[in-house]
Amino acid sequence: MNFTVSPDHAQSCEKVALRICEIVRQKPNAKLGLATGSTPEPVYRRLAQLCKEGAVDFSHVRTVNLDEYWGLAPTHPQSYRYYMDQNLFNHINIDKANTYVADGLADPDRAAAALDEAVFAGGAPDFQLLGIGGNGHIAFNEAGERLSADSHVVALTQSTIDANARFFENAGQVPRKAITMGMKGILAAAEVWLLASGAAKQNAVRGLVEDGAVTTQNPATFLKLHQNAHILIDEALAKLVGLQGG
Ligand code: F6R
Repeated sequence: MNFTVSPDHAQSCEKVALRICEIVRQKPNAKLGLATGSTPEPVYRRLAQLCKEGAVDFSHVRTVNLDEYWGLAPTHPQSYRYYMDQNLFNHINIDKANTYVADGLADPDRAAAALDEAVFAGGAPDFQLLGIGGNGHIAFNEAGERLSADSHVVALTQSTIDANARFFENAGQVPRKAITMGMKGILAAAEVWLLASGAAKQNAVRGLVEDGAVTTQNPATFLKLHQNAHILIDEALAKLVGLQGG
């Protein structure tokens, strides 16, 4: 795994945005695996800016998102489809027909199978962007006794529900289930870039830094098995997990 420590999260995000642009310039119809949540928002703002400046052309790019809440319509302000439209797709010249976010209203098993089809159709993603949960989840592959290779329906853990309650009026409104890409889809991407910032992520990120151990209790540790995985954190988090800046 490749660690990059930046002075702040904005600079980590800048590096990711520039890497995405580089990939798209080299391969105009690249397939990008995308994430939602607070962490990547600055990446999307920067991509929108770069697109507006003409520095990158998304017109042939394809995207597939990691996950979607089960039970939320695409028009629901907390759905991940809505998030992607608001944070990125409405601000760049992408063809929305080429963007895939799982259908939160479909039969969940069918929605999961369709997500895997989207991940692998025409080849695995050229790039995967990830955030990380405080419990080490990537996408919604939650920490526990086992992980699923395939995309699947998942019952969110209480810690994830609590963490995401900030986007809703209260924790009771957070959907209990989600459709998520499985570990196989994530690890199939040609390169994986995980962004993390904030003390709440320290235990999960420490598991990436400490040793070579891979454990289902911290799903992000499976990225140690990937040949081209990049972990980008800021100095404050690096200090908390005992990693030197640079
Ligand atoms: C989002 C996703 C999640 C988030 C994680 C961190 O699509 O798959 O794994 O990346 O929950 O969320 P934030 O960035 O809000 O701390």
